[in-house]
Amino acid sequence: MARLLLGVSGGVAAYKALETARLAVKRGHAVRVIQTPASTRFVGAASFQALTGAPVLSDEFERDPDRGRYPGEPPAERTPISHLALAERAEVYLIAPASANTIAKLAHGQADNLLTAAALAVTCPLIVAPAMNDRMYAHPATQANLELLRRRGTVVLPPGEGELASHGEHGPGRLPEPERLVASCEALLSRGAGWAGTRVLVTAGGTREPIDAVRYIGNRSSGRMGFALAAEAASRGADVTVVAAAVTVPAPPGVAVVEVQTAAELQRACDRIFEQSDVLLMAAAVADFRPAQPGLGKVKKGDPPLAPGPLELVLTEDVIAGLAARRRPGQVLVAFAAEHGGDAIAEGVCKLERKDVDAVVVNDVSRPEIGFDAADNEVVILSRDGAQRSVSLAGKERVARAVLDEVQRLRALERTDELQRGGERDGAGRERSRAGAGA
Ligand SMILES: Cc1cc2nc3c(=O)[nH]c(=O)nc-3n(C[C@H](O)[C@H](O)[C@H](O)COP(=O)(O)O)c2cc1C
Repeated sequence: MARLLLGVSGGVAAYKALETARLAVKRGHAVRVIQTPASTRFVGAASFQALTGAPVLSDEFERDPDRGRYPGEPPAERTPISHLALAERAEVYLIAPASANTIAKLAHGQADNLLTAAALAVTCPLIVAPAMNDRMYAHPATQANLELLRRRGTVVLPPGEGELASHGEHGPGRLPEPERLVASCEALLSRGAGWAGTRVLVTAGGTREPIDAVRYIGNRSSGRMGFALAAEAASRGADVTVVAAAVTVPAPPGVAVVEVQTAAELQRACDRIFEQSDVLLMAAAVADFRPAQPGLGKVKKGDPPLAPGPLELVLTEDVIAGLAARRRPGQVLVAFAAEHGGDAIAEGVCKLERKDVDAVVVNDVSRPEIGFDAADNEVVILSRDGAQRSVSLAGKERVARAVLDEVQRLRALERTDELQRGGERDGAGRERSRAGAGA
């Protein structure tokens, strides 16, 4: 059971929001509804009120008779200071249907009614389900607005294709069926959702490539970022294994640790564990080069010069690209890109494509206060659907939360895509028999 905030904007498909509210309540969720003034011309507050057992808000200047309470919660003692109490406490905010007008406002941060103001105030996942005439949907303005929203991490549910309200028209713009809308919310609900039993493989630390028996080529990675990711995943209920390369900090409790030294050892360990993993978080700094022929004993001062010889370098295997090449459907792969100055984001975008991963976490290690061996980090998370999320300077624990939130969003998207494909396969005929503009 979760606190689900349902935002309804003005379009014919608003009638489907009634069924969505009914279904969500039936599945045990506490639902509160916010309507735009225009949407009340399509469906009335009284119906939502009857279905959810809670007042419906559509005017930011009116008081919430339930004082920000979701159904099933004890009565609030006093009226909340903010008219946004509902938004602050929501665990998922679904805007369905989202009209072209509301999408434009959301994309540009306008807050001229309670629904759009709430979208700026929520900290929970935001799901937007567009529904409109096919030409409105295809218009470059609408597409650009949706792209902006996606980039900010909003989950945009693709509309279904079918008969539209305008007589004889057909195309994309139909609101997904209520079952799909509720399933999408559930896939995104709460941080812990979907993590129990999820097998997460994290790499941490920095590899060391031997020059001889006592010397190595290494890097300054401590393992802090990888361990923060492992701790966060474990706290959400995942089964976590860390392949730890020469880490200098203690491992968090409740995770299995496989210790390695070299890139080759890390690769062998990952090869073994990856098959059974659902999520790979590749935070280790893996050497790109290793000495071609490490000395057997300790190279002495009097020995011949090191290069050519032990210091002649050869490329190591590209571990994550190798794993990505044999991924199975449903696995989520996240790479890390430690860029040194330059256009770190452009490099990250290249890496996203080159390595065929789902997301790349980019940080600029030329800045001494972040990155290697530092307690803090500042990153940008680039995802395959175009989302780009910045995490400003913060402890690595907070960065880890943001990365895991993004993995959860990507997994939910995948689930939504699956539902969408399923719906298109077995529901096409059925859906086409129901008419409605973007309905
Ligand atoms: C009969 C009728 C049907 C409409 N259907 C849609 C629709 O499906 N999608 C849409 O984006 N706008 C639709 N509109 C236009 C919106 O209602 C209009 O843009 C309104 O300003 C939206 O306000 P809101 O976003 O604040 O709810 C429709 C308008 C009318 C009169």
